[in-house]
Amino acid sequence: LEGFFVPKLLAGRKVVLTAGPTFEALDPVRGITNISSGKMGYALARACAQAGAEVVLVSGPVSLPVPAEVRRVSVTSALEMRDAVLHALPGADVFIGVAAVADYRPLASAEHKLKKSADTMNIALTPNPDILAEVAAHADAPFCVGFAAESRDLDAYAEGKRRNKRLPMLVGNLVSDGMGGDDNTVILYDDAGRHPLPRAAKAEVARGIVAHLAGLLPARGR
Ligand code: CTP
Ligand code: CA
Repeated sequence: LEGFFVPKLLAGRKVVLTAGPTFEALDPVRGITNISSGKMGYALARACAQAGAEVVLVSGPVSLPVPAEVRRVSVTSALEMRDAVLHALPGADVFIGVAAVADYRPLASAEHKLKKSADTMNIALTPNPDILAEVAAHADAPFCVGFAAESRDLDAYAEGKRRNKRLPMLVGNLVSDGMGGDDNTVILYDDAGRHPLPRAAKAEVARGIVAHLAGLLPARGR
């Protein structure tokens, strides 16, 4: 019933989000990944749905329940995540990249288990596409929101990413403040500057993010 009291700030809007880590296979049982609980992305998907939006959540491997009124598309790798996002995007007013996408994937994925042999092993990696930057660069791009979890120099890295990826809004946090836990401390960055939100449960932080982005959304009928 919690959502009943949330103002319908995103009524009539479609929101596509990414959340969780990606997993890049090396062989049938191994791979490289990023650490991400998915909690912030799922909380945000839930907050968007409670605000009245149609929500598609493209999720990497996490063990979290699908929030009510959210359509989840489960993916594993960054390439699958990009395909699912491009498929979900038509008609979207907002795209939010919360996923911890692996920046690189193994150049080759072995069909069978790799066997140990030599004393050292080198794995050749190749860059993954930047899903958020790709979506934001599109001529008819939705309102794009990025996330940045940094271990230091949050303001500089966050503003740098917002500008490089041409995002109207980015949510930054320090790794030490948010990762894995149920609470988060974030700063919102937009063209007007930086807007710190009070430390709170991820559900509450998600509502703050929704309220801020709803205020920046262009009026309907683009
Ligand atoms: N992102 C994405 N696709 C990627 C990498 C990142 O969509 N291949 C998105 C993330 O979901 C996040 C934002 O871009 O919203 C910032 O991700 P981050 O990893 O912090 O930035 P990078 O540009 O990858 O820079 P770096 O890892 O070097 O800090
Ligand atoms: Ca990265």
